[in-house]
Amino acid sequence: MLVVLVADAPAVDREAARIVAHRVREKPAITLGLAAGSTPLGMYRELIRLHREEGLDLARVTTFNLDEYLGLSSSHPRSFHRFMREAFFDHVNIPATQIHVPDGTVADDFEGYCAEYERSIARAGGIDLQVLGIGRDGHIGFNEPTSSLASRTRVKTLTRATIEDARRVFREGERVPECAITMGIGTILEAREILLLGAGAAKRDAVARAVEGPVTASVTASALQLHPQVTVLLDREAAAGLRHLDYYEQVMRTTAALTPGRAARASD
Ligand code: F6R
Repeated sequence: MLVVLVADAPAVDREAARIVAHRVREKPAITLGLAAGSTPLGMYRELIRLHREEGLDLARVTTFNLDEYLGLSSSHPRSFHRFMREAFFDHVNIPATQIHVPDGTVADDFEGYCAEYERSIARAGGIDLQVLGIGRDGHIGFNEPTSSLASRTRVKTLTRATIEDARRVFREGERVPECAITMGIGTILEAREILLLGAGAAKRDAVARAVEGPVTASVTASALQLHPQVTVLLDREAAAGLRHLDYYEQVMRTTAALTPGRAARASD
């Protein structure tokens, strides 16, 4: 795991967008795994700016979102479909046919639908770069504590904590979905490269448990320790619970000289 520390949330946004844009320029027909939620919002904003002002071409990019609330249609104002359109897709040039977000309106044959989502990822050649946020309970996607670390795309029941966090974006009196369709931990671990973003004090404990705790289904993000190409990009508040901060800083200093513009992966 390469732990990259930056000052604050705007710096996370900029650095995350820089990494994604760099990968897109290296491989224009890249397949990206994307997350919804507040964490990557600023990254999407910066990618839109790079598209508009610096010619970042996304025309050959294919995307797969991690998850969607079960029961919400793609036009529902609180759906991840709508979120992704408003935050990103409506402002860049990724063709609609290359965008995939799980369908929250699936009402039966969940297994068949989820297996097809997995097959469409495989048909696209697998995910090259998966962007992740992290929940306060350490979830990635909606892989709540006790999810199998080998899990595939499926329907998951959300924890009370996740439902309460989601309530922030739902209107008063509006029912917050209790289930979601989510890629599994096994699905996520098959991505060739993973970028986990964390910003703000609310993520401090989850980040510490994910990065330095034991690998456990109780903190599903800890499974990322098993993946050889993970960058964990954190602001100071999200990183504050880490025990080895000195070491991560040392790695950043010593490797910046080796790979100008980007820390090398000497801490893997
Ligand atoms: C969203 C997702 C979730 C979020 C996580 C953090 O697609 O997969 O795992 O990344 O719940 O949410 P925010 O960023 O809103 O704190």
